[in-house]
Amino acid sequence: MLQNKRNTGSALIEKIAETKDITREELSYLLSGEDEEIIQELNRKARETADEIYGKKVFIRGLIEFTNYCKNDCLYCGIRKSNRRAERYRLTEEEILSCCESGYDLGFRTFVLQGGEDAFFTDEKICGIVKQIKSRYPDCAVTLSIGEKSRESYQAYFDAGADRYLLRHETADAAHYGSLHPKEMSWENRIRCLWDLKAIGYQTGCGFMVGSPHQTVDTLYEDLQFIRKLQPQMVGIGPFIPQKDTPFGGEAAGTMEMTLRLLSIIRLLHPPVLLPATTALGTIHPKGRELGILAGANVVMPNLSPVGVREKYKLYDNKICTGDEAAECRFCMENRMKGIGYEVAVDRGDFRG
Ligand code: 5AD
Ligand code: FES
Repeated sequence: MLQNKRNTGSALIEKIAETKDITREELSYLLSGEDEEIIQELNRKARETADEIYGKKVFIRGLIEFTNYCKNDCLYCGIRKSNRRAERYRLTEEEILSCCESGYDLGFRTFVLQGGEDAFFTDEKICGIVKQIKSRYPDCAVTLSIGEKSRESYQAYFDAGADRYLLRHETADAAHYGSLHPKEMSWENRIRCLWDLKAIGYQTGCGFMVGSPHQTVDTLYEDLQFIRKLQPQMVGIGPFIPQKDTPFGGEAAGTMEMTLRLLSIIRLLHPPVLLPATTALGTIHPKGRELGILAGANVVMPNLSPVGVREKYKLYDNKICTGDEAAECRFCMENRMKGIGYEVAVDRGDFRG
């Protein structure tokens, strides 16, 4: 009986890998299944799939959290505008460039500029910063993660030299989106942004939180189908973690187990995807990032922000690495990856689709 179930499990994993598709029932089975061996096989198959394309390498991206001002009020997020407890900061252009300088010396060849939707950083300012970075470090990729903008703005950043853009779709189910965001925000616009980014030519990343309030197997199924349709170059997923000063402060966190299963499934559905083992995953479990890599992730994003502001960029509680210098995180990451048999790659780490 048990053996039968295992055979069915293996056949299912093979079928998903082969067709790069999954049904609602299969997803439900894999997410609720309690047979450890089937889950281990899922993780193993996903890891093999990543190895076949990228080898035993993990890409690193230097994350620069340059502003925590935000005009939005997402119910889950610690830097939402209504959070009066958030201590706001902005880095100057010089500070951003100095993060890049130390990052470059540490071997980073991708800089991710992430921030809230902050009107202070006009398109002109963003373009100026992107141009500066690209002219000083022509061998580096610049990734922007600054939220929803018009197609014209995205085009302007791209023309200034930005290579990649991360914008998690958060959920592919419009009603679920409505329960995570204030009514001023629209799911249609979010999805429009992602299609615009792709059409412009960015290496584009979407993604979602695992275990966000009101998430169901059905909304996750929609997320996976959206990924299959969009064919993004990157997908960012990590567990939802409550932040105490938000409306969702009392909700349960997403789990590591669920995140690992979804990482593996995403790898099988879209083999060449760049898939980070996120800081949120490292926050809910001390070995979360390592286990994420072993489940099929192939990117890590250590923080390059100045230590003085890290504590303030708190999307969720108990975020790790807020007291560590960039160099500490860089070498910590290298050791962690070595510990599981992986090398940190010191190139741009472009998509190989
Ligand atoms: N827990 C986990 N992830 C969060 N994010 C925002 N708030 C939280 C939270 N409380 C994620 C969102 C956003 C990304 C930058 O961080 O998915 O897109
Ligand atoms: Fe930051 Fe380990 S990655 S201290």
